[in-house]
Amino acid sequence: MSNLAAGAAPGKVILFGEHAVVYGRPAVAAALEHGLGASAEPDDDGPTLRIPGWGKNGMVVRLAAPNKAFDAIARAYAAALDAAELGRPPVCLTLDGELPLGVGLGSSAAFAVAILRALADFRGRPFSPAELLEAAALVETVFHGTPSGLDHTVVADGGCLRFQKDAEPAFTPVKLPAPVPLVVAWTLRQGSTRDVVGGLRARRDAHPAPYDRLFDLMAHTAEAGIAALEAGDHAALGALFDINHGLLNACGVSNLENERMVRVARDAGALGAKLTGAGMGGAVIAVVPERPARVVGALRDAGFSAFATRVG
Ligand code: PMV
Repeated sequence: MSNLAAGAAPGKVILFGEHAVVYGRPAVAAALEHGLGASAEPDDDGPTLRIPGWGKNGMVVRLAAPNKAFDAIARAYAAALDAAELGRPPVCLTLDGELPLGVGLGSSAAFAVAILRALADFRGRPFSPAELLEAAALVETVFHGTPSGLDHTVVADGGCLRFQKDAEPAFTPVKLPAPVPLVVAWTLRQGSTRDVVGGLRARRDAHPAPYDRLFDLMAHTAEAGIAALEAGDHAALGALFDINHGLLNACGVSNLENERMVRVARDAGALGAKLTGAGMGGAVIAVVPERPARVVGALRDAGFSAFATRVG
């Protein structure tokens, strides 16, 4: 069977400012070289969605015969078909790529944007950039309730963005002189983003003054990080990753696995490392301009998943 249509989208990492962004401070996020691709084929039993790389044995979701285990994926797929005004067409979309599910690397935003691009290709009419963002927000809402918009904006845009929720404009581009060489490592998460954000909210409400100081320090670190990114200064970027990681640890969102990943990456030659996203497991990023294979190998030897990539 030949492909009818295709679409792709990168994953994302938060370089600076996760958690503090919830309290109005700036965050910086960038698109990854790694991502997801979607291709469409005719399928009389469709609409069907196949994701061979997710779940224990891959996922097959048929909208006509719902499987409770993949309910959120099915609802998100239905939302994408509705946003593309396609009804329930006889197609099977296959989603492939190197992005793990649910560790904070933007898998749900990449899911949304790759599928929407493939569906737009299938119907023969692309989304405008504004339509794509609006449709991706609808699909992301199925997974996240009230997404900030950071993930799907970075994933659809493909660059590096500063985000601050009450600023006008909320998104501003960060201009990188060259893509930034990172190693990404990950492990399972303890609890959802919602749980980790809720836990921090409770600690902050009990002790607002010190937490608000930590968020202010994260804001300073993010602004210094933007200067390092725009100057292409990898040593400064690494030092600022280390500072931001220490502040996230002080907020109580880094677990033993995050600490181990950060330590292994630094010991193997990374210029700096931090957790990225919600924390309590999930993903860690390290600045590694030279010999990334050594850092990736050390992380894999320690039992983690890892790849070398570039962002922006
Ligand atoms: O791990 P992720 O990609 O879900 O990122 C969460 C980022 C937080 O700042 C912790 C929460 C948020 O809504 O911004």
